[in-house]
Amino acid sequence: MIHTQIAAVISSALKGLLSEHEVLQLLETPKQEQHGDVAFPCFTLAKHFRKSPAIIADELKVEVTSDLILKAEVAGGYVNFFVNQDKATEQILTSVLAEQDSYGSQPIKDEKIVIDYSSPNIAKPFSMGHLRSTVIGQSLAYLSEKNGYEVIRINYIGDWGTQFGKLITAYRMWGDEALIKKEPIKELLELYVRFHEQAKSDDSLNDDARAAFKALEEGNQEAKALWSWFREESLKEFETYYDLLGIQFDSNMGEAFYNDKMQPVVQELEQKNLLTVSDGAYVVELENLPPCLITKKDGATLYATRDLTAALYRQQTFKPVKTFYVVGHEQTLHFQQVFHVLKKMGHEWAESLEHIGFGMMLVDGSKMSTRQGKVVLLADVLAEAIKTAERNMGEKYDNQIDKRSVATQIGVGAVIFNDLKNLRTHDLDFSLEQMLSFEGNTGPYVQYTHARISSILEKGDYHEEPSTPYPLGATAWPAVKLLDQFPAIVQKSYEQADPSMVAKYSLQLARAFNKYYAHSKILGEDEGLQTRLAFSHAVSLVLKESLRLLGIAAPERM
Ligand code: ARG
Repeated sequence: MIHTQIAAVISSALKGLLSEHEVLQLLETPKQEQHGDVAFPCFTLAKHFRKSPAIIADELKVEVTSDLILKAEVAGGYVNFFVNQDKATEQILTSVLAEQDSYGSQPIKDEKIVIDYSSPNIAKPFSMGHLRSTVIGQSLAYLSEKNGYEVIRINYIGDWGTQFGKLITAYRMWGDEALIKKEPIKELLELYVRFHEQAKSDDSLNDDARAAFKALEEGNQEAKALWSWFREESLKEFETYYDLLGIQFDSNMGEAFYNDKMQPVVQELEQKNLLTVSDGAYVVELENLPPCLITKKDGATLYATRDLTAALYRQQTFKPVKTFYVVGHEQTLHFQQVFHVLKKMGHEWAESLEHIGFGMMLVDGSKMSTRQGKVVLLADVLAEAIKTAERNMGEKYDNQIDKRSVATQIGVGAVIFNDLKNLRTHDLDFSLEQMLSFEGNTGPYVQYTHARISSILEKGDYHEEPSTPYPLGATAWPAVKLLDQFPAIVQKSYEQADPSMVAKYSLQLARAFNKYYAHSKILGEDEGLQTRLAFSHAVSLVLKESLRLLGIAAPERM
């Protein structure tokens, strides 16, 4: 990497006053081309040398030499370095082409990261919030792996709670097996809604539901069979979304998995004198936070009790160095409480648990609400995205490729990219039209650039053999520099748990390449052809890898 190499020579010119790493942290990338490729600010050195930054810069300019540096200029306390483009290009392309899809990967660390994501609720629709969790979690999983960690992907299914008593009661009254088999979530949701409607005027239904849930908790065969059937049917439906999105989990251990594991945790809390009685319920009092409810008056456990238990279980089972909970902002307080309780229990690893929150999905600028009929169903969204993508692809693709499967990759990719290109903490606007454009800041645009390169390589008969380097010219330089930055982007986006860095990077790289493409005839004259192709190939490798890190496919043709 250019920055690392320049940092090394600066550090040695400074006789180790700043380590290579410290210099690297200080290096900046000038916004304007006329200020060179890399800038080193001299302000922090002024005190040590008792000289003005300008004078230090003047001295450094002379002392820092390397065959990678073409020239250096001093401006406003900075040394601006201009890189020898041909030399740097040769270096950068060589490493991308040698490492291929492991370019930017960190060495394997033998450390595990648990990622808790997606986690929809049984018998409830897969919400847009769950979609956000799914795609963000998936990208974090890839990013963690790329940074050398082993990842345990956990889908913490919401498969327990009093609502199952209601569902069982409703099913006994109005349920239809065949309908549920056909459209499980839709039918189960209808039963649930109908239950609430009727319970308004008939309170005995609530008693029935409570009894049904109690039976379920006590392991009653019939109740359990129904619950497990609802669970399976719902999971089957979720599985169709996961298939489309290309997502696989290592485990579907949901809330119910912890039913028989909670008692010891409650006991541990008691032994450590952390439980207080409040209104017949047991709570853990917390500093600066509302108390965390552990068991209700009737002894029933809660969402937090299950999360505490799950955290303890995972820590014991997988011994992760880190755990990410990818869940919307609205659960921030819940996770603060859970983490805090674990700390009070004396578990130091609680510091390694992290809530990765995210904003809401907005439709036409406002929050989605079931009541106003503004729900957007994932199944509809994906189907619509795929249909639109297929239409956009036009006729000329017929018979050439499996149009439907590419349309799926484009449609699904568009939905994922639209989510991940935004800072996850922000709310997100949902517009199918925009996300599917081949031109804007979209997934299809990046995919299209990748596919275009594939066809260029084919036409140019690219052989992947190293060729005598040939200068690519200044129009390629911005894209080459971006290639060089990829490993740093991969690392930073992992550290900040922010896939949007990779998404934005892929757009920049695609744009830089397309600019080059517009200004130079890649397939023109023979002289330098293989170098131009090698460069194009390097760009396509990094685009494809960026898309993969986002969980998006890169079709060869579109
Ligand atoms: N099922 C929950 C919901 O839909 C999300 C679970 C998140 N993960 C966790 N460990 N609490 O709201």
